[in-house]
Amino acid sequence: MKDYYVIIDCDPGIDDAMAIMNAVNSENIEVKLISTVSGNLTIEETMKNALKLTEIFKVDIPVSEGAREPIKRQPVYAGLAQGTKGMGGYTFKTPKTKPFILKSPDAIHFFLNENPAKNTTILCMGPMTNIANLLKKYPEAKDLISRIVFMGGSKDEDGSTVPYREFNVAYDPEAMQIVFDSHIPLVMVPMELGHIAYFTPEEQQKIKRANSVGEIFYKMFTKYNDYHVGKLGAAVHDSCSALFLSNPEIFRTEQAFLKIDYYKKDNTEYGYIKCDFGAKEPNATVCVDVEIEKFKKIIYGNLFNYN
Ligand code: RIB
Ligand code: CA
Repeated sequence: MKDYYVIIDCDPGIDDAMAIMNAVNSENIEVKLISTVSGNLTIEETMKNALKLTEIFKVDIPVSEGAREPIKRQPVYAGLAQGTKGMGGYTFKTPKTKPFILKSPDAIHFFLNENPAKNTTILCMGPMTNIANLLKKYPEAKDLISRIVFMGGSKDEDGSTVPYREFNVAYDPEAMQIVFDSHIPLVMVPMELGHIAYFTPEEQQKIKRANSVGEIFYKMFTKYNDYHVGKLGAAVHDSCSALFLSNPEIFRTEQAFLKIDYYKKDNTEYGYIKCDFGAKEPNATVCVDVEIEKFKKIIYGNLFNYN
């Protein structure tokens, strides 16, 4: 029984790749579209990676091309952390799979209307640009979305080792503001979850030994220098948002009021999500912890589907 009719919006991206593998192997998730956005890399690279991932994961899911830059500011790519092509040390030839005929946000709008129950969940694992463009072009789309589960933002206001607090929000804070203004129910899966959800070098060896898909992830991880956890291993931030959909029971959540705020550093303005966990009128659910052993066991289980 598929509980969720899901549209994924992402910028693959190594942790996006691991998250997509989990989502498409989850019993209670039906992924209807993989929409791509620029973020970790250019839209050309994130599209190519997403098309290739559907071939690796042996799924026939449409992949649509989305926004090539933020709605207002200039793009600043996070490619360094994800390798020059966004797949770390894994290289591949141009995928054979063709993009979906529609581009996002039209592709997202098409599948929102395809869902007879009009209760689609959007799993957003990159900048919110496509969702903002959807809401600008089709304001009524907000009534077709039951909730947006997004990897983005940070629960605490310090601890970031790079100028921005969290990449997805910093890349396009104006898009995040448009999503807040829509009042669509939100679940935020912040960067701190990736400080818990990371694979150590020993665990990466276990992934490598699993099968050919595990070997591909191992190659991706070989060049995945995640700023948040340093040399400790590969932080799989996006998988936290995907597993919140498939296995919400392993997460602890709190209610908070979220809003976009800005600060200046070295003459550059950065946007981030300010969280008020004591707010009388919260506007979002925030994941604050995860049972990491169960988290990893679920991922290994999904990976072993390819044995
Ligand atoms: O801050 C982590 C987020 O930025 C993840 O979605 C990762 O893929 C990068 O896009
Ligand atoms: Ca991502």
